[in-house]
Amino acid sequence: MLSQNHLHVSLLYIVLLTGTKYGCGGGGCGACTVMVSKYDQLNNRVLHYTVNACLQPICTLHGAAVVTVEGIGSTKTKLHPVQERIAKAHGSQCGFCTPGMVMSMYTLLRNKPHPTMEDIREALGGNLCRCTGYRPIIDGFKTFCDVSNGCCQNGESGGKCCIENGTKQHNDKELFHMDNVLPLDPSQDLIFPPELMIMGKKRACGSLCFQGDRLKLISPVDLTNLLELKTEYPEAPVVVGNTTIGPNMQVKGVHHPLTIYAGRVSDLHTVTWGKDGVSMGAVCTLSSLKEEMERAVREMEAERTRGYQALLQTLRCLAGKQIRNMATIGGNILSANPKYDLNSVLAALDCTLQVMSKENGTRAITLNEELFTGFGKTVLRPDEVLLSIDIPYSKPWEFVSAFRQAQRREFAFSIVNAGMKVLFREGTNIVESLNIYYGGVGPTLVKVGRTCQKLVGRSWGEELLADACRLLEEEVELSDSAHGGKVEYRKTLTTSFFFKFYMQVLQELRERDVNVCLLPLEYLSALKPFKNEVVCLFPLQLVSNAQSSQDPVGHPMMHQAAFHQATGEAQYYDDIPAVQGELFVYMVTSTRAHAKIINIDPSEALGMTGVVTFLSAGDVPGQNRRMLFNNPEELFAEEEVGYRTVPSHYHSRSVVSCVGQIIGAVVAESREQARRAAQMVKVTYQDLLPVFFTIEEAIQHQSFFDPKRKLERGDMDKAFETVDQILEDEIYLGGQEHFYMETQGLIAVPKGENGELELFVASQHSAYTQEVVGITLGIDSNKITCHVRRLGGAFGGKVMKIASLSAITATAAVKTGRPVRCVLERGDDMLITSGRHPFLGKYKVGYNNDGTIMAADITYYSNGGCTLNESLAIMEKALLHMDNGYKIPNLRGRGLVCKTYLPSYTAFRGFGGPQGLMVMESVLHEVAVKCGLPPQKVREINMYREEECYTHYKQLFSPRDMLRCWDECLDKAGYHDRLQAIQQFNTSNRWKKRGISAVPMKFGVGFSKGFFNQGAALVNIYKDGSVLVAHGGTEMGQGINTKALQIASHILKVPMSSIHIKETCTGNVPNAAPSAASFGTDAVGMAVKDACEKLMRRLKPFMENHPKYTWQQWIFEAYCQKVSLSATGFFMGPHTDMDWENSEGPAYYYFTFGACCSEVEIDCLTGDHKNLRTDIVMDVGRSLNPAIDIGQIEGGFVQGIGLYTIEELQFSLEGVLMTRGPSQYKIPALCDVPPQFNVHLLANAQNPHAIYRSKGIGEPPVFLASTIFFAIKEAVAAARRERGLGDSFPLSSPATAERIRMACEDQFTEMAPSPEKGTFKPWSINI
Ligand SMILES: Cc1cc2nc3c(=O)[nH]c(=O)nc-3n(C[C@H](O)[C@H](O)[C@H](O)COP(=O)(O)OP(=O)(O)OC[C@H]3O[C@@H](n4cnc5c(N)ncnc54)[C@H](O)[C@@H]3O)c2cc1C
Ligand code: FES
Ligand code: FES
Repeated sequence: MLSQNHLHVSLLYIVLLTGTKYGCGGGGCGACTVMVSKYDQLNNRVLHYTVNACLQPICTLHGAAVVTVEGIGSTKTKLHPVQERIAKAHGSQCGFCTPGMVMSMYTLLRNKPHPTMEDIREALGGNLCRCTGYRPIIDGFKTFCDVSNGCCQNGESGGKCCIENGTKQHNDKELFHMDNVLPLDPSQDLIFPPELMIMGKKRACGSLCFQGDRLKLISPVDLTNLLELKTEYPEAPVVVGNTTIGPNMQVKGVHHPLTIYAGRVSDLHTVTWGKDGVSMGAVCTLSSLKEEMERAVREMEAERTRGYQALLQTLRCLAGKQIRNMATIGGNILSANPKYDLNSVLAALDCTLQVMSKENGTRAITLNEELFTGFGKTVLRPDEVLLSIDIPYSKPWEFVSAFRQAQRREFAFSIVNAGMKVLFREGTNIVESLNIYYGGVGPTLVKVGRTCQKLVGRSWGEELLADACRLLEEEVELSDSAHGGKVEYRKTLTTSFFFKFYMQVLQELRERDVNVCLLPLEYLSALKPFKNEVVCLFPLQLVSNAQSSQDPVGHPMMHQAAFHQATGEAQYYDDIPAVQGELFVYMVTSTRAHAKIINIDPSEALGMTGVVTFLSAGDVPGQNRRMLFNNPEELFAEEEVGYRTVPSHYHSRSVVSCVGQIIGAVVAESREQARRAAQMVKVTYQDLLPVFFTIEEAIQHQSFFDPKRKLERGDMDKAFETVDQILEDEIYLGGQEHFYMETQGLIAVPKGENGELELFVASQHSAYTQEVVGITLGIDSNKITCHVRRLGGAFGGKVMKIASLSAITATAAVKTGRPVRCVLERGDDMLITSGRHPFLGKYKVGYNNDGTIMAADITYYSNGGCTLNESLAIMEKALLHMDNGYKIPNLRGRGLVCKTYLPSYTAFRGFGGPQGLMVMESVLHEVAVKCGLPPQKVREINMYREEECYTHYKQLFSPRDMLRCWDECLDKAGYHDRLQAIQQFNTSNRWKKRGISAVPMKFGVGFSKGFFNQGAALVNIYKDGSVLVAHGGTEMGQGINTKALQIASHILKVPMSSIHIKETCTGNVPNAAPSAASFGTDAVGMAVKDACEKLMRRLKPFMENHPKYTWQQWIFEAYCQKVSLSATGFFMGPHTDMDWENSEGPAYYYFTFGACCSEVEIDCLTGDHKNLRTDIVMDVGRSLNPAIDIGQIEGGFVQGIGLYTIEELQFSLEGVLMTRGPSQYKIPALCDVPPQFNVHLLANAQNPHAIYRSKGIGEPPVFLASTIFFAIKEAVAAARRERGLGDSFPLSSPATAERIRMACEDQFTEMAPSPEKGTFKPWSINI
């Protein structure tokens, strides 16, 4: 019997292969990429292609070979060159995405040993990485290309490449060397198993049936068999790629007891080219459709393939490679999802579907709007099967285009898609027929039939355009409350797309000498979509030549675990094999935002197979709360009034305060059983008032947490009296989901003796987890041991909530006496754990006409959610960073944390810094606009300049290195020349605009809560001379272990290979501070140094007495002389403390400086934007490891791109987070990284305060991506200026495609005016 899980390749987990990772379960991240090989009988060849294992039903792999990352190489035998190169190129940080990246590249090389950069770009388009910023991955993989000169191959054909045009120079000081890497030798690759080849060559055996306990999958062998099954089981869906059915079953919980797999039916694979076009078998994948279209476009005359070119345009951006390899054309059509792209194009092309049933034989159905009867529904009868799709050639005077706009240019569902085709009377511009279809503007495909009809017979010209837009506006109906929201934007896209089509056709008609009006030259760039390119960089390493090559400090050493991460051997918490008797816990969460719990009824769940117990507040043996300083948060919402004391005035005891709050937990024998049972727990609520979610509403209700904070310098009132101008405005900044690739979880193992408990947990702060678990269980910390080997990314998100999850899981373990595992699914992780705070900054600023800011009074509001958690500290950091690099003599910042009925917001890389800085940069930007000055000039006028400066909280610092970063950055970026070039570009392009922006940065390092500024380590030397280092930091990709090894090696003077770090363990190093605040390496590094120095002092006599001895001999000698070879190291960090009453620091240990300049291009008609180039100069002091530091800068920057431009969280009016997975929530993918991405470390930088004069670098770079936001704003302003609109306009962050488009006001946006607030129910709210 197979359970639901067993029907999928996630079976690999069960056979203990750990390389295939779970990142989302819905095909949206690529962490689970594996290679499938199949024998193709038709063409007598073996096909290799990538798939997402999470969606690949294992039963559909009969006769196929699956290669996982373990199959291609290992540290125990031999690495595969792909594994070696991604590791050596520093392309693996936390490593959770790495096996997926490796498998995508490996599969590409299996098919094409000499790929182009475009091949690599395409192959990796479906793999997300949250850590690296992608550049080092590309750097490692591009070594497989035949590009001896290191060119990025981004130059347009005939145009100059990056090296020719001088933007890159060869330099031999690269971060990694290609010497000594393994050559690619395809003859060493695994062969396709001969037995499968023999099996494949034979006639396929009969139909196969796989029976699970709840699921059955039948795999018919031929069409007759398939039709019979469809007649017998009309309700059973046909499944092929499983990319629609799979996510519905796994993520949305839809249950199909029986599915029929049609992938083995050869009749449905047939591709037939005929005189009218091509007939594509329904189960042909989108990849094979793309290949066929590419071949046709290559080999046939252009006129016949116009439709195919349009299809290709869509296919290039549709999903990622893995999904295209699995998804079928039939599945895409029949899923009847208007966000899917193919239907609008295929309908415009007048395609026909051939369908068949056993009873009625074959019939043809035209693919048009009538095919679809509702969302997910078609006119196909339940017993019918789709055989093929006929896609005709284009006719001689026919023109076709396809359009799509998504949240992210690639690997994202479209918001609106369109297919348009026009046929002209030969040699004229008279429309004979017109087809326009839209997806994404209704529950099904929309044909704008009336519009098309009215335009037939008309001449293709301006009058037609005007009428078409008016008609489209009338015909495309979208209610103001339409599902999916973005109503004005979607309406605007319909006319904007048509305008693009109009221009494209006009251009082509002119090329054919038809007498049509001339398209102005400056319109031409609007016709081309953005070209996706790959990032190209030659970073330099900055190690002094004088330094010994034996000394690892300062060298770009590879991440210590990179090889293990690249081979899939690196263990994360969920890779630990199941312990005997292990159970699984699944959280039951509130579905109401503010309600009294009347009753919790788990009886049905408890009666289900495998369910062991149900937990709620009453089961907690100790305290049902987690404390942070004095702020409590319940673990479980309390069930009965008065049941355990919770000293909180934020919660009444039986009340839930947000959707996603944990109410209880089901413990069962397996994941699947626990998950199913959790859905059966019945909770009765009584809704309570008030309930509100937004900052605006919280202000109305005066709902704020205490204390409120204020910082002030100067005399505001006086200053406002004397300034030339006063400006009042505001900026809203949306929140951000951590989207670490590894979701939160742990394993709690009761030891059975003295109440001892061990936890293997994904925590950034193991000591805090230990403490919370102890309080929850009512046992001492000395009985609880937390082990953290590594985390698959954390970014601040694995400090607080993981402690609650640990406490709940530990409670389950204690109650049942058995080990319990908790692994949050991606959707639950996003729902429960929350992320970065949304902020609203309201400001009043007084400035003089020359741009000098004399006074700024800023009130920051953050949305803290339902409990205070870390929100106060985050608000404090925002206030402490509000001056950035500017000396504003009169500055006041007030910070209010709003209490709303949302999950509690928490720490996220930057910890309020990116928000605090952003508001100030907005002030600078707007003042520049008002003064009519370039923003960079206003920034320069206001910068701190004296050697000794004081922040607005009286902390002394020198801005020298910030100013150096700024000057170098503008210089290296060629800012002034490019500004001119941009102005030129903008004058010559009406619908595409460019913008450039630069910002400086001053970022505080260390905890402003002074006691956290400490670090501890333990270093043991064993008799054989090997060294074991333990420290209190956690390795989450930031390279803390690598740097600790470098430091230990530097002091002990033994090679890094003799030193080992196993894990972070509360039993080895107690009371450790969280790895956060960019302070981890500073604290841990100093502590490791201290411990090693102690040991060296003890060894010194032996070294002096026996100078010729080896290390091992000294150690042995010391041991024999009874010298302790174990030492603890401690770092008592600096005293930092804020006196909030008197606005007086010091708040930070020191400052990290930087500057960044970015250029973007926007498409004014769609709101799409392309990041063109970024230059960063960063002061990291004397870098301990330039490769790791550059990795942190790039990764942080790219995370910032997400924060400020594409990552958008949407909440329903009921406070439910709707963006709960990679399908709805888009983090930056490869296509978002600027193709020119230059990171420079400031030369000759010093920092007397930190280890070896380095600087903390984890958090600061996020904010630098605000340059992209401001560059977008500049570009939008250029568009607006041309239309005589003001430069001053609101733009909230993130600057999404929707916001960009709507800010570029024009005749099309005017046709979609915003409805008046209060006259409709919006689909989502800005919280
Ligand atoms: C992460 C991700 C990203 C995606 N991005 C995009 C995107 O950007 N653009 C886009 O257009 N799509 C996108 N998709 C959707 C994807 O293209 C479709 O899910 C896919 O084409 C469906 O094909 P399938 O073979 O996987 O269908 P399945 O899931 O196997 O089946 C889907 C439906 O089609 C029916 N069906 C399939 N074949 C037949 C047949 N021969 N006869 C009768 N019924 C049949 C099934 O009964 C079922 O209802 C994405 C999907 C994922 C998971
Ligand atoms: S886990 Fe399979 S794609 Fe994310
Ligand atoms: S290294 Fe890619 S997700 Fe962490």
